[in-house]
Amino acid sequence: MPAIHPSDPVLRLHSVTRSFREGDQLRSVLRDAELSVERGEFVALLGPSGSGKSTLLNLVSGIDHPDAGRIEVAGVPLHDLSEKERTLFRRDRIGFVFQFYNLIPTLTVLENLLLPLELKGAVQSGDRDRARGLLARVGLGDRAGAWPDRLSGGEQQRIAVARALVHRPELVLADEPTGNLDEETGARILDLLDDLLRDSGTTLLCVTHSREVAARMDRILTLKEGRVHAVPRADFMEVGGLAGDRR
Ligand SMILES: Nc1ncnc2c1ncn2[C@@H]1O[C@H](COP(=O)(O)OP(=O)(O)OP(=O)(O)O)[C@@H](O)[C@H]1O
Ligand SMILES: [Mg+2]
Repeated sequence: MPAIHPSDPVLRLHSVTRSFREGDQLRSVLRDAELSVERGEFVALLGPSGSGKSTLLNLVSGIDHPDAGRIEVAGVPLHDLSEKERTLFRRDRIGFVFQFYNLIPTLTVLENLLLPLELKGAVQSGDRDRARGLLARVGLGDRAGAWPDRLSGGEQQRIAVARALVHRPELVLADEPTGNLDEETGARILDLLDDLLRDSGTTLLCVTHSREVAARMDRILTLKEGRVHAVPRADFMEVGGLAGDRR
């Protein structure tokens, strides 16, 4: 893999296009989308339902592939990697909080948290402590042995956040990580992301519909008509700024 220069953007999309076929119709979701995110930046990604936010995260994580265009993560062009290399790259370097959590129902909460580390290699003794510490931080320290499908939606969401952080990824992709949480619990999750990611220079790309979440990010972007647009903070703070965006 190419050497990484610390000043390289951690994420770069160039002219990324992705369409989906629906019957005999082609639905164009991303059209020549451009995006550059610096190392350590916290970026909010807004956009109406169906605008392609999850599609973009799937492309960045290498789960999905663009029809055209280039995606580089930490200086690595994803299209240069084989499927297997892409899986390993994602596993090691990216933390993904899925919109629908994707917890494994046959593993306990703690086993779900340890899975990214187990896939990476042997789980070290300190890893269990880190996983338990993260569980405590998301307010679920007493649920390590629980089965995910016995937990509430918000509890599953918090487990999904903890799982995305346990292997110390350098890029965290979070798809509405507080969408199912009350305001206070959501704020705690953001505090956790701040505490754990800011110091280590980890980058966060966070899809959200929440004004509170977006306001805590360094930069606010929105997806419209297949492209990424900057949202000036002043516009966003105006009453109705976000409401206008969600129309
Ligand atoms: N695998 C797929 N096959 C076909 N169409 C897809 C697929 N994935 C996404 N789409 C379509 O692409 C569009 C964008 O979907 P996406 O999930 O990225 O939206 P979103 O912005 O995340 O929306 P939401 O806020 O509702 O989660 C939708 O119209 C969706 O139907
Ligand atoms: Mg989505």
